[in-house]
Amino acid sequence: MDPDGLRDEALAAVAAAETLPALDEARVAYLGRKSPLKLALREVRDRESGMALNAVREAIEAAVAGKQEQLEGAELEARLATERVDVTLPPELLGSVRPRRRGTLHPSTQVRRDVEDIFLGLGYEVVDGREVETTRYNFDALGFPDWHPSRSPRASLYLDDETVLRTETSPAQIHKMESTRPPIYMVSIGRVYRRDTIDATHFPIFHQFEGLAIDKGITMADLKGTLLYVMQQLYGPERQVRFRTHYFPFTEPSMEPDVSCFACGGAGCSICKHSGWIEMGGSGMVDPYLYEFVGWGPEEYTGFAFGMGIERTAQLRHGIPGVRPFWDNDLRLLRQFR
Ligand code: DAH
Repeated sequence: MDPDGLRDEALAAVAAAETLPALDEARVAYLGRKSPLKLALREVRDRESGMALNAVREAIEAAVAGKQEQLEGAELEARLATERVDVTLPPELLGSVRPRRRGTLHPSTQVRRDVEDIFLGLGYEVVDGREVETTRYNFDALGFPDWHPSRSPRASLYLDDETVLRTETSPAQIHKMESTRPPIYMVSIGRVYRRDTIDATHFPIFHQFEGLAIDKGITMADLKGTLLYVMQQLYGPERQVRFRTHYFPFTEPSMEPDVSCFACGGAGCSICKHSGWIEMGGSGMVDPYLYEFVGWGPEEYTGFAFGMGIERTAQLRHGIPGVRPFWDNDLRLLRQFR
């Protein structure tokens, strides 16, 4: 065998390879275990021809390595060129990359955050309540008499005889009062559960926010002033607040606050059912029974409390009909709220 001829032939094959697979083919043909060179090396008996064949091997190996580097470099260049991303292009022109939509907050979440911000601004603490309550906290502590219809399993969702999914956020008041002493200024926001059949205006889960302020010398004027401020923050600076007397087991006296209609300014329209006023929830002065329940003297402090619906607030703000849309998760609706 002629080492020089073999070398020239191999180097020519390596030089002719235009792709990495073609180069690999040449490498196998001239340096592989069954290549003439390797077979010849195995047969070598004398030093001189061994050195000559080894020199040929080294020359071919060097040529393959050099060519490999060159081809890899060219391949990388080509990939970089085709995969280049122009980051200044608007996303819809990026071809395979689909335009991304910005997410929006659910209207309930927006109201929830607004309520938190408003009360934090008033110096209130935001506290978490419990969604699973004992009847003691959900009813007894709040002064619900034994015969009260809310205690019925037809009205409320029981886990067992003494455990119920809270029907309102008011039990958070009791937990707060048990854990600390006045001054208390707290708001608690969360889900409540009632055994309602689902229709356009009912859903067995909704959200409430619950406020509680207990201190020395708190009066109904503080309650009304606070609610006026909150309503003006939620519905605009022109809003007015009025009270209608009502009954709740845990407030005395109890009032239902109305806010002047933000759609017609009080003149009367379909949103306020032509009364000029919109019902906002419940409120009142903390019933002394609650102070006794948590073991305080009944005369020491006074306070007020209120509770309102988050979905109801969002419905009024955005003109969303009923409560079902809040749970349908129809993106065509949800995307409208920024
Ligand atoms: N928990 C009442 C409800 O769900 C609302 C309520 C009324 C809360 C009066 C209060 C309150 O804190 O003082 O209908």
